[in-house]
Amino acid sequence: MCGIVGYVGRQQCADILVSALKKLEYRGYDSAGIAVHSNGKIKTVKAKGKIAEGLEAKLAKEGKPYGTCGIAHTRWATHGEPSDVNSHPIGNGRITIVHNGIIENYREIKEFLISKGYGFESETDTETVAKLLDYYYSGDPIDAIISALSDIEGAYALGIIFRDFPEKIYAVRKESPLIVGKGKGENFIASDMTAILEHTKEYYLLEQGEIAVLDGDSISFYNLHKGSIEKTICIADWDMDAAEKGGYEHFMLKEIHEQPSVIKTTINPRIKDGLPDLSECGITPEKLNSYKRIFVVACGTAMHAGVVGRYVIEKLARVPVSVEIASEFRYREPIVSEGDLVIVISQSGETADSLAAMRLAKQLGAETLAIVNVKGSSIAREADMLIYTHAGPEIAVASTKAYMVQIAVMYLLAFEMALAAGKIDETECRRLTSLLRETPEKIEKILENTEDAQYIAAQLLTADSLLYIGRGLDYALSMEGSLKLKELSYIHSESYAAGELKHGTISLITDNVPVIAVATQQNLFDKTISNIKEVKTRGAKVIIVCRESYVPDKDIADFKFGLPDDVEDLLMPMAAVVPLQLIAYYTSVLRGNDVDKPRNLAKSVTVE
Ligand code: F6R
Repeated sequence: MCGIVGYVGRQQCADILVSALKKLEYRGYDSAGIAVHSNGKIKTVKAKGKIAEGLEAKLAKEGKPYGTCGIAHTRWATHGEPSDVNSHPIGNGRITIVHNGIIENYREIKEFLISKGYGFESETDTETVAKLLDYYYSGDPIDAIISALSDIEGAYALGIIFRDFPEKIYAVRKESPLIVGKGKGENFIASDMTAILEHTKEYYLLEQGEIAVLDGDSISFYNLHKGSIEKTICIADWDMDAAEKGGYEHFMLKEIHEQPSVIKTTINPRIKDGLPDLSECGITPEKLNSYKRIFVVACGTAMHAGVVGRYVIEKLARVPVSVEIASEFRYREPIVSEGDLVIVISQSGETADSLAAMRLAKQLGAETLAIVNVKGSSIAREADMLIYTHAGPEIAVASTKAYMVQIAVMYLLAFEMALAAGKIDETECRRLTSLLRETPEKIEKILENTEDAQYIAAQLLTADSLLYIGRGLDYALSMEGSLKLKELSYIHSESYAAGELKHGTISLITDNVPVIAVATQQNLFDKTISNIKEVKTRGAKVIIVCRESYVPDKDIADFKFGLPDDVEDLLMPMAAVVPLQLIAYYTSVLRGNDVDKPRNLAKSVTVE
């Protein structure tokens, strides 16, 4: 979704802003722009399209605005098509703004402003905010911001510059994230830390309804009554390398390869004396033992991590778990109450539907536990209990390493829950925990074999559609494999419970609808093989993902991706997801797609 950056300091800011915007490209966007205080005016340059072809080309042609204070934006269109005029920054020469989020009552505000003589150029909701600020402005920016905000409904993060205050940036947020970075003789605003990591690791988290005022030497915060506020500085523990490609062709490939190490960083601090210990996250065995029902609420890949979690928690702890798509859960009057645990899984911690679902669960009396990657994000801040995954910045839009650590955390949780409930004893819990600790090595081994994934990808390039099938945990994994493939390769695919195929979907099988069968669960293996035969005899090309030692006959599979034999069934999803990620990655590369930024997708989905 949209990205915001602002710089005020002593350096010429145009290049700094553009380079910071490039760090936000991963969020997804379709236009970009900058506005700089330049010789008593606000100079804005903006263009539809990618930064390199649009904004940078325009800056090269028109010249970079000269100045040391400016704001910038990448826009992911919501109100109004992607176009130069709908791009941000938006303003009228006196006040210019960048905006993330959606102003829900923009039509009313627009009508009001038109009645006051204002004209509008763009189709955006953002322009109403810029003009409303102008309407209220009579010399004091903070007064104008407070008055305008009292009229606005919706979600926003705003970066604002006033022509009369050439060395200041103003910022405010509600729902949409925004941070304020503190440098030496220079300060920043940004949607997320990756944009400014190369300049500083020190930042403030702007809370709802707080106004920040920055110049090169100072940062002040005010509440909506104009009272000044003291805030605590945070230090980012991500470093620059984490946000660079590090020799890999794409962020996605780098992130796939980072999985062994991020599992260790995520689980090792939560294992004490060989047993899971989530007490630093506010989770105790007594608490875990008190829940009668668990809901996992999330979107997309994070929701798929919940599906793996459901199998594992139900199997080990024998507590009923229901996995819910956040955008459905929040509108279907869910039956949730005191005594229930609602787990919200989110890489970004800002997904609008997941956040709203969590708020609803709290209102209904449930306890909430967030499993989140981005520190200080909204979901992290509002949950009753919190487990941070330590995946580091995930830049590729398609989630890989974040999914891996989400499931690693679900395992820890399941083990601790099962022990607390007396469903497994300490010896078994230690054994499972130690197996979990061994998964990074197994994944390293799988990552040595990218050739098979490349070969398989080459077989899929011209497919009309694909089916991913499996049973039990293999079915849970098929969902993620299928999503990865379609978001990256743009080939349609579906995941299906292998036993359900013959109840309708098998009619889709032709020789151009390959089937990727995941068959790692030994108790279900023979049944899955029977289902594979059903599609094979109907002409499907079959790719099987299974243990290395299994050698499929020609009447079962055309290709195999072998996994280490010594991974326990329960932990197989962590191993088996790797070839599925690699197959999706290479299919996308071979089709010449933009792997890290697939079309139409945004990394952080902050609108519902
Ligand atoms: C797919 C993907 C998305 C996200 C989903 C939720 O690769 O990344 O499906 O998983 O948009 O995002 P978060 O985890 O940030 O809540």
